[in-house]
Amino acid sequence: MNAPVAPTPVLHFESVSRTFQQGGKQTVHALVEVSFGVHPQEIVAVIGPSGAGKTTLANIALGLDRPTGGTLRWGGDDVRGLRRGALRQAKRANRLVTQDPFGALHPGMTVFEVVSEPLRGSALDRAAWAPTVNSALESVGLDPSAYGRRYPHQLSGGQRQRVAVARATVGAPRLIVADEPTSMLDVSVRASINSLLRNIRDERAVGILLITHDLGIARYIADRVVVLDRGRVVESGPADQVFSQPEAPMTRALINAVL
Ligand SMILES: Nc1ncnc2c1ncn2[C@@H]1O[C@H](COP(=O)(O)OP(=O)(O)O)[C@@H](O)[C@H]1O
Ligand SMILES: [Mg+2]
Repeated sequence: MNAPVAPTPVLHFESVSRTFQQGGKQTVHALVEVSFGVHPQEIVAVIGPSGAGKTTLANIALGLDRPTGGTLRWGGDDVRGLRRGALRQAKRANRLVTQDPFGALHPGMTVFEVVSEPLRGSALDRAAWAPTVNSALESVGLDPSAYGRRYPHQLSGGQRQRVAVARATVGAPRLIVADEPTSMLDVSVRASINSLLRNIRDERAVGILLITHDLGIARYIADRVVVLDRGRVVESGPADQVFSQPEAPMTRALINAVL
């Protein structure tokens, strides 16, 4: 038997730093030489206290912000080397699921329009949009004939977040960044969104970067965990290992805070 070949990470931070200049003089080190990867069919949870750099990390992962140091790779490609067209195409393969499905969905768009939006400008022929959108809705447990023409205000919070997840999966996403995807949902609905994310991981060649302060979720669905503290990775490893034998004081503090 051949040894398994390690797949190329969909997202790779190589010693990535991000500094901000505040008020002219003061330098804020939001990220300091952060290194880790997210592979296809993997959920990597990033946990850390407020101000640790999680949002900065998410923005850089999606291409909404640029590192001030180090190298960011999407599917092996150094982002700095991508020309305009290739960059646009690469960004389209990155998707975001935010914590607020109410704010994320345009009120005047139907569910069908919301979910098909990432297909605009893609190579996919318009005739193929309906089957693609319908199967994305089915995969999140929403009957397309019942929900396709509805508006976001006609949906429950959990249904809206399902639509947001369907939108994140249409076409051929490479990376899904889920930024606190369940923090505004009722506890009863959270588990179903978590299992959706797990299904996506298991069934698609997509990698998921899960930004969360909910360690219960990270423990339940993440394969690996990266702990950020003041811009630095203070611990990383398989989720069961990090949670059962935390080494960094910050990891212990985060775990103790929820127990
Ligand atoms: N645009 C910005 N300008 C100046 N400082 C920023 C900016 N964005 C983030 N920061 C600073 O970077 C640090 C990390 O912020 P952030 O990534 O939002 O952390 P988290 O999401 O973990 O709470 C904080 O000290 C924050 O004040
Ligand atoms: Mg944040």
